[in-house]
Amino acid sequence: MLIRTDNDGFNHPRSSEITPQPVYEERRRWLRTMAAGAAGGTLAAWAGRDALAAVPRPGKLAALAGQASQVAGANTMETLTPYADASQYNNYYEFGLDKADPARNAHTLKTTPWSVKVEGLVAKPGTFSLEDLIKLSPQEERIYRLRCVEGWSMVIPWVGYSLAQLLRQVQPLGSAKYVEFVTLADPKTMPGLRANVLDWPYTEGLRLDEAMHPLTLLAFGMYGEVLPAQNGAPVRLVVPWKYGFKSAKSIVAIRLTDKQPGTAWNKAARNEYGFYSNVNPDVPHPRWSQATERRIGEGGLFTKKRKTLMFNGYGEQVGQLYAGMDLKQQF
Ligand code: MTE
Repeated sequence: MLIRTDNDGFNHPRSSEITPQPVYEERRRWLRTMAAGAAGGTLAAWAGRDALAAVPRPGKLAALAGQASQVAGANTMETLTPYADASQYNNYYEFGLDKADPARNAHTLKTTPWSVKVEGLVAKPGTFSLEDLIKLSPQEERIYRLRCVEGWSMVIPWVGYSLAQLLRQVQPLGSAKYVEFVTLADPKTMPGLRANVLDWPYTEGLRLDEAMHPLTLLAFGMYGEVLPAQNGAPVRLVVPWKYGFKSAKSIVAIRLTDKQPGTAWNKAARNEYGFYSNVNPDVPHPRWSQATERRIGEGGLFTKKRKTLMFNGYGEQVGQLYAGMDLKQQF
């Protein structure tokens, strides 16, 4: 995965060090094409390296208040990441490969009308409009850490409810063992689809018991407002004990299956991104350590990194899901 290395105040490893080789090569090739203007004037701007400050902040988004969650472990007391960082330092490859690209480009995402198909091994499959989904269960505010495999983390107040509420509604069959999440892939509004870095649409997967865990959040908002496009509007997943890439953005379908589904990052680099992707400081990424992390928004270049916690600090709540598994083999 890519990381911003220019003057953003953080001491990141270089992209070439932490990005799967095919992604890195594709990104370089693509930026060269863009810079040459072959893809048209607007997109050529992607090749620019403007400072984050140049990104226009959208006005306040609609309020989406939630009651404080009672789910065990759902409210860390740590300092929140500033909204500006959470909404301008993003991974959303459908809108570009640089951290600043999603905030710059995701305004083209059309979130109305929106619906999510829930299908596969369920007794009551259905298509839920966004409005019906939002009303399905009371919204809760949950303050979760999100740890990216690239070695940075944030603390974000999300608004949503446990995915289990939706899954119960469709009644999983006894044969359902996994849940696949399919996200939007619209070439008209998502310029990133032109880059051949991932097998679009971006998909992710969880085991059914992980998906049913009360901490697994179907999120519609953050910081008391509806999600900005770049953070995965209008509906995304947040799985706080797994690396950030498990938290699929802009979900259009949820499929219950009996076989482990493929996932975008696992397909791109099988030996680097496993199906489970639990935050695990004892399992280094093949090309860099996962032992520490930099908290975005916390100090600058010389701020000491934090030690990464097993399951991102949610071990008490989720550790039993993996009892008896060798998490070095099943990373
Ligand atoms: N979902 C889609 N559809 N496309 C993506 O590129 N990136 C993932 C995840 N979900 C991604 C996605 C990665 S790598 C991370 S770290 C998180 O989104 C980042 O979420 P954030 O931008 O809200 O911090």
